[in-house]
Amino acid sequence: MSNRIEQIDQLARGRMLSEPEMEQLLADATAEEDAYLFAQARRVREAVYGKAVYMRGLIEFTNYCANDCYYCGIRRSAATAQRYRLREDDIMACCENGYKLGFRTFVLQGGEDAWYTDARVSALVEKIKHTYPDCALTLSIGERTKEAYQAFFDAGADRYLLRHETADEQHYQVLHPLSQTLERRKQCLWELKEIGYQVGCGFMVGSPGQEMRHLVKDLQFICELQPHMVGIGPFVPHHDTPFAKEAQGGLELTLRLLAVIRLLQPHVLLPATTALGTIDPNGREKGILAGANVVMPNLSPQDVRKKYLLYDNKICTGDEAAECVNCLKNRIDSIGYELVCDRGDYK
Ligand code: 5AD
Ligand code: FES
Repeated sequence: MSNRIEQIDQLARGRMLSEPEMEQLLADATAEEDAYLFAQARRVREAVYGKAVYMRGLIEFTNYCANDCYYCGIRRSAATAQRYRLREDDIMACCENGYKLGFRTFVLQGGEDAWYTDARVSALVEKIKHTYPDCALTLSIGERTKEAYQAFFDAGADRYLLRHETADEQHYQVLHPLSQTLERRKQCLWELKEIGYQVGCGFMVGSPGQEMRHLVKDLQFICELQPHMVGIGPFVPHHDTPFAKEAQGGLELTLRLLAVIRLLQPHVLLPATTALGTIDPNGREKGILAGANVVMPNLSPQDVRKKYLLYDNKICTGDEAAECVNCLKNRIDSIGYELVCDRGDYK
């Protein structure tokens, strides 16, 4: 048995590799080694979650953003972004549509929009949870105070997604202006966990300046935080950002990372992201076959979808939610998995 296969077996027993071993596995696994890695990831995922793929209805409710992350198409300085903000009625209509389509988790995602004060977000959370008590509600609205996070939790929010973006300080400052820090980001994640949320962190694969050693740090941070969810997808350039001319992240590397994360954290909820589906026509299926177990179709109204453009060529911006659910169901069926309509809680 080759050394590499033994290393994958070690991962499959939940043990982290040494830093050089992990860097090399991520950088240059052969096709056979990848096949073995993905098979192990599927085995581990099926032992916990069977063939179920959970769906989350993503509602992109505002693209106003106070932040200026260099990679993001809705950053404050992106002059060509057409800004929009959904109000409570619009959002409730998205939920109603989603509920009818079988969604039992709604994800409210938006830029860091000051119009949505802590009080307004709390009121919105309460309204959704009151109307749909059988649904889980996930927030993904960036950095707020611990008091705000507590208030949203008390209002009924169940989960919170906040990608850490990179676990290396210097790399964090390659991706963000100095007003945004990794320290604050991590603090938010620990506070969310302490309050009792199911928490998701995550990062982009192949973001500008990223080195293999940064990815190893990302994996180490995941092992430390023990999140319930991890969102990863390739970096994809957006034309109206400082990173417009940078290369996009790689498919193989993203799939390897999904598989490694599944092995290190067998119970984690791991989406096959839209960005993965954007860089490869079968990216999401490949993600599921590498250990992912969540998909997040878009529930936003059709007329705003093209405006929530974090990166270029984003898929599904012209489709109805119903079309995406059907499309995903067929795609997931075709690879022998099953799209499931329930809250899809962490096991
Ligand atoms: N390419 C890929 N992912 C991106 N995100 C933001 N901009 C891009 C991009 N250009 C991701 C970030 C953020 C999440 C909502 O979307 O990781 O946390
Ligand atoms: Fe949106 Fe396929 S998932 S069209």
